[in-house]
Amino acid sequence: MSAPDGAERLIRGLELESSYGSAPSVPRYAGGSRVPGWDRAADLEKDPAEIPEDIEVPEDLRAEIEGHMANYPDRRSAALPALAAAQRVHGWCSPEAIEQVACVMRVTPAYLESVASFYDMLETTPAGRHSVYVCTNISCSLRGADALYETIVRAAEGDDQIGVRSFECLGACDIAPMASVDGVYVGPLVPEDVPALLDDLRAGRDVLPGKQLARRLVADPDANSGEFGEHPVHRLTLPGRDPEIPPERAAFGEVADEDRGEETAPLEPQPEHHEEDES
Ligand code: FES
Repeated sequence: MSAPDGAERLIRGLELESSYGSAPSVPRYAGGSRVPGWDRAADLEKDPAEIPEDIEVPEDLRAEIEGHMANYPDRRSAALPALAAAQRVHGWCSPEAIEQVACVMRVTPAYLESVASFYDMLETTPAGRHSVYVCTNISCSLRGADALYETIVRAAEGDDQIGVRSFECLGACDIAPMASVDGVYVGPLVPEDVPALLDDLRAGRDVLPGKQLARRLVADPDANSGEFGEHPVHRLTLPGRDPEIPPERAAFGEVADEDRGEETAPLEPQPEHHEEDES
């Protein structure tokens, strides 16, 4: 069966339109596609892509990309961390950034563009220095993510250094509603947290330290001990630990008296429950 020609497609479109009563309103980009760039015609006259030579690459960036390449048997596997590194340096995956990565990795810019355009966290258009991803998926949405997102968008309006966007589940539903701020997970958030969140971000401070996922109390007392030290409650309750609370832990507030230096009492064994006992 041959593909429908233009007239046939138009008739099918009109049939569809009449079956709906009016044309369904679907947002379209300039080329008519629902996804930007998907219907951009390929230039078949173009020369084949080449690996760029003799491009000036900042030394730190070159060293980082080479470090990532050394981690994989196939150097192309380093495309994601290499592009992320270039994005940190250039602010986005600009044509210049992509050329630099291509030059170090010995791949074509086209290969890297195909990777960069697939992943949401790689920016292929100019972006602000900071990114705030607000999760608006189901768990966060049920707990007020939509209002939170709108509040952040309004508060950051006009600041081209802060890019705010809604995201699908970021995998931290237990702190819903939450956001990833330059990769740091914070939550549960309320709209009242937004001024402090943006102030911290603009001032280059740690964002809402008391609401960071990485600093939350967890069952494992040794969790996060490398980067953030231990939670003061754990420091005090485990025998032999230094009871002094470091100042950076003050975000957790005062340690309750009952938590100071006390061992948790072992659970009493419970009598076994048999259904016949009830009869
Ligand atoms: S739904 Fe928001 S983190 Fe999962």
